Amino acid sequence: MTYPTFTKEHKSLMAKYLTKDIFDQLKDKKTQNGFTIEDVINSGVKNPDSGIGAYAGDSESYKTFALLFDPIIEEYHHFAQDDTHQSDLNPDHLNAPTSDDLDKYIVSTRIRVGRNLADFPLGPAISDEQRDAVEKIVSNALNSLDGDLSGTYYPIDGMSKKDSEQLIEDHFLFKAGDRFLETAGLNRNWPMGRGIYHNKDKTFLVWINEEDQLRIISMQKGGNIKEVFTRLTTAISKLEEKMEFSFNKHLGYITSCPTNLGTAMRASVHIKVPNLSKNMEIFKRITDKHHLQIRGIDGEHSQSKGGIYDISNKRRLGVSEVQCVQDMYDGVVELIKAEKELSI
Ligand code: ADP
Ligand code: ARG
Repeated sequence: MTYPTFTKEHKSLMAKYLTKDIFDQLKDKKTQNGFTIEDVINSGVKNPDSGIGAYAGDSESYKTFALLFDPIIEEYHHFAQDDTHQSDLNPDHLNAPTSDDLDKYIVSTRIRVGRNLADFPLGPAISDEQRDAVEKIVSNALNSLDGDLSGTYYPIDGMSKKDSEQLIEDHFLFKAGDRFLETAGLNRNWPMGRGIYHNKDKTFLVWINEEDQLRIISMQKGGNIKEVFTRLTTAISKLEEKMEFSFNKHLGYITSCPTNLGTAMRASVHIKVPNLSKNMEIFKRITDKHHLQIRGIDGEHSQSKGGIYDISNKRRLGVSEVQCVQDMYDGVVELIKAEKELSI
């Protein structure tokens, strides 16, 4: 492979840090699963509007291609090479009292983590047989859960178009055909091996073999953030009894995209803030202060509708899970205060 041609449209951190010199040092390297620098950067090269533009094929990719991944991780997470990751999944450490205001302004709350199995390559380098094996291991484990977490696994293969469209519209299921995932090799052999597990009330869900092998999700209507976090942490520990997740002391939980490393957690609310949406400067000042990201109502790369936004933690590595949720909670409380002041 030769050094890619980057245009001024290429805005990703990958394009920023992959100099010709770094490329030359990485171009003949390969992980045990056969992942190369070409595989790492393909999504960012083909999608110039990528923000990050790099994916890992296995946890080894983060070491083999560290000359590229380290500066990306450092800039995105403000996390240096000698830092260690901290995990705290104890809901008692979260300070997030409920209130009428939270329930009034927050339409729904969702917290997810990404996880991958320690004994398999990540999605971009996995084989079809391995992906099917992951589906089997994870769906069997899920099918043995009981109580509030008990539910059913629905493979995408065989699901009617009407059912999948409804699940996507209701914010429960991932969209198919994302061009970033496509070029990262994450849509190979679609839809085989992919699916969704959920309990009856759809408050506990697990996506299998999307961007990560598991996306473990807790969600519900309204603003009881602690209840959502508690359900998630219970589910994570039950699943940890049944499988080993890919984890290392430096990078935390290993994920295919470097933005998700560490806690792999995105804690979000859909919040109705029509006044703030007309005062983006104030909106942005508060979200920046609390390290939050603003997304549209249908997830990443989507637009807001009716003054409702998806607000979530941006930091995931070098901060604990409790801190990720705390960032979101504290920011949301301040957003609601500002929204109320603007409506007077
Ligand atoms: P991810 O959260 O896995 O990074 P997305 O941003 O694409 O991926 O979101 C996945 C889905 O979850 C989308 O349908 C999105 O609308 C939905 N979602 C995210 N946050 C919330 C929330 N607080 N309430 C309801 N649905 C949500
Ligand atoms: N690869 C895409 C980009 O660089 C997405 C990055 C973050 N989002 C994600 N779903 N991993 O813009």
